[in-house]
Amino acid sequence: MTVVASKVSLQHRRVIPFDTDWLFTKGNYAGAKNPGFDDSRWRRLDVPHDWSIEEAFDPEMEHGGSHAYLPRWTVAWYRKKFTLDEADQARRIVIEFDGVHNNSEVWINGHYLGSRPYGYVPFQYDLTPYLHRDGENVLSVKVDNTVMPPDRWYSGSGIYRHVRLLSTDPVQVAQWGTYITTPQVSEASAKVVIRTNVRNGYAEAKACTVTTEIVDADGAVVGRGESKAVVPGGETAESAQEIRVETPKRWSPEQPSLYHAYTTVAVDGQVTDDYITPLGIREIRFDSREGFFVNGVGTKLKGVCIHHDLGCLGAAYNDRAMERRLAVLKEMGCNAVRFAHNPMTAELLDLCDRMGFLVVDEAFDKWKSLYYAELFDEWWQADLEAMLLRDRNHPSIFLWSVGNEVEQQGQDSMLEMLDLLVKHCHTVDPTRPVTCALEPHNWPMSLRSGTVEEKVAHTRKLAERVDILGLNYQEQWYEQYREAMPDTLILGTETFPFYRGKGSRVKGYEPVNPWFDVVKHDYVIGQFVWAGIDYLGESAYPSKGWSSGLIDTCGFRKPVSYLQESLWSEEPMVQIAVFDDTLEQGHTPQWTKHWMSPPMASHWTFPHYEGRLLRLVTFTNCESVELVVGDESYEEKRLADHPDRLMVWHLPYAPGRVKAVGRIGGRIVCTHELVTAGEARQLTLQADRTRLAADGIDLAHVEVIVTDEQGVPVPGAKHAISFSLEGEGTILGVDNGDLNSDEPYKANARSAYHGRCLVVVQAGKQAGTLRLTASAEGLEAAAVTIVCE
Ligand code: GAL
Repeated sequence: MTVVASKVSLQHRRVIPFDTDWLFTKGNYAGAKNPGFDDSRWRRLDVPHDWSIEEAFDPEMEHGGSHAYLPRWTVAWYRKKFTLDEADQARRIVIEFDGVHNNSEVWINGHYLGSRPYGYVPFQYDLTPYLHRDGENVLSVKVDNTVMPPDRWYSGSGIYRHVRLLSTDPVQVAQWGTYITTPQVSEASAKVVIRTNVRNGYAEAKACTVTTEIVDADGAVVGRGESKAVVPGGETAESAQEIRVETPKRWSPEQPSLYHAYTTVAVDGQVTDDYITPLGIREIRFDSREGFFVNGVGTKLKGVCIHHDLGCLGAAYNDRAMERRLAVLKEMGCNAVRFAHNPMTAELLDLCDRMGFLVVDEAFDKWKSLYYAELFDEWWQADLEAMLLRDRNHPSIFLWSVGNEVEQQGQDSMLEMLDLLVKHCHTVDPTRPVTCALEPHNWPMSLRSGTVEEKVAHTRKLAERVDILGLNYQEQWYEQYREAMPDTLILGTETFPFYRGKGSRVKGYEPVNPWFDVVKHDYVIGQFVWAGIDYLGESAYPSKGWSSGLIDTCGFRKPVSYLQESLWSEEPMVQIAVFDDTLEQGHTPQWTKHWMSPPMASHWTFPHYEGRLLRLVTFTNCESVELVVGDESYEEKRLADHPDRLMVWHLPYAPGRVKAVGRIGGRIVCTHELVTAGEARQLTLQADRTRLAADGIDLAHVEVIVTDEQGVPVPGAKHAISFSLEGEGTILGVDNGDLNSDEPYKANARSAYHGRCLVVVQAGKQAGTLRLTASAEGLEAAAVTIVCE
């Protein structure tokens, strides 16, 4: 639920942030559910918190590959003590967790509230009957991570998302109780339909008036609706309104204009509750011949898949860390993300609404494997509903996904289950289509070597049950699929970053970017690159993560990301990269090779290649590129001669400078220059922001670069760099993007990798100045000042 929307604020409902001052310990203390339990020696901390990211890597860890070798096998407890404000004493008090990993159980004052095994969904408990109105209350949360690893990737451990307390009058908007749709949208006007579920906590019926105001980004009310409902005692009732908004500012990935719906519930003229719902006025349309449209504009999904971890912050959610990552994706022309393979925190959807990303919101990975296997039948409906009900008002979401690479694809029991899940999505939200990402790896063995016709017939059984055929790595069969299913739209729910799919992880590959299959066919609505960002988990020691991302765990762009930008972006760009076989890459077992791109580096310091011929590539969307070596023009190439977008050049390496000049219509529109670095002499710091909110949450990401005297980055530098921070703030994490490193993420030191590393600084809760100093032996130190206000 969006609790704070610019220009709209709650006056009646109190949403009390509940993140600070928790007590934490690892270990199982059965008595910790009791209020009187002695927790005086427990650690005091704020959530979101991930205890695994604080651990040392353990190469011997059981199932360590799925969890970055960061131990998780324990029970841990969190406790929080609180008293109720005078104003909340007679109200309904609910605790809301955005997600706890994993297998949580919650008690208030020793009273058991319930459990939630799936770590990715939000849940609430009503505390009202068990609270001490004028004394201390103790909330106890047990997290049990001793069970099988829940995921193939790094999940993190603990209360890793936000917590809040909701204080409301007994007559209120029910949990996730608004559902807003925009069934008619044009440039001239929009019809907005609002359904509000009102909950009456009293024993007797209440006659309620529900009012909704549609508020634009400047705070102006642009539409208003009112309706009545008589809500029987102890029940909920729906009240619907239709509001017309004239000349709406429509939401699109290019112009993500937002509104908010401000709802009030009143009884006998007295407002009892208010509620804010995100609203984007937009029309999405799927046409089986022409593809996908946003507000009537044909739109291809230029997407990436992301997992939830934030590199050195682990799974502990931080909005700014996520925003920075999305901004890097946006810079390369990305307009869509697929949440792999679970519901994310609601703040991430707020970011996608605000920044203009179209979202595939996905409920599950496999249905019946790993830890969830035994829980699926009991929990799928509640978990799926938690995602659908919480998320369905976000304009960014264009597609639901009920699963990824579900086992036993195509078998009767799987098909029945698929029917159930899809139907459930349609019931809760009839406005969006549903998919399920399919991959040949989950086919029966016999089919893998079968004919294309057999494969198509098999996939057809699944395609008939979903609205959009989501295919992982199957570009080579798109045409056959479509021929057999002429009304079916196809989406590349996963594609390799560099190579075209061969439909099997063990076969070869061809260096044709999967994007070409998207542009070639109107019925292919987009692609989602696996992966947008390197993530922790799914690896084999010494690697701690998966390294096929377009950007690394620090958020630094890799050379291959510029290939994607050249394909996706309309902004003129050119970038030089050099194929360098000597480059260390992440740990890449043979079966993962297709996901990787050839080793490339974007610099001009190759002492080991002196006098030898280098193979260089320029990525561009310009008509032509001229390569200038030193001051001499070397050669000019036309993009039209390189339909694969791989403009390759061969030239002898000599230290100096090399520049790529991009031209459109003969005019220079962009350049990219690389200069040979001299000896490493100094450290250079680049902070993404030097002014932070003094809220104990906000972040500055400081890139630490080893440079020569002139400030040119030294790509081979591996110096051990240490950091000190003066002032009220914290070094929240350090990273250098090297997934093979054993250096801890929570530290005050990091070695440079490819000449750089990252320090994440968190503001304290007091206004003041922070000064981060970086030093390394043999290099001139550097410092940056960050103001917290
Ligand atoms: C896909 C799978 C992803 C990830 C990727 C890399 O098949 O859907 O979750 O595992 O392979 O191995």
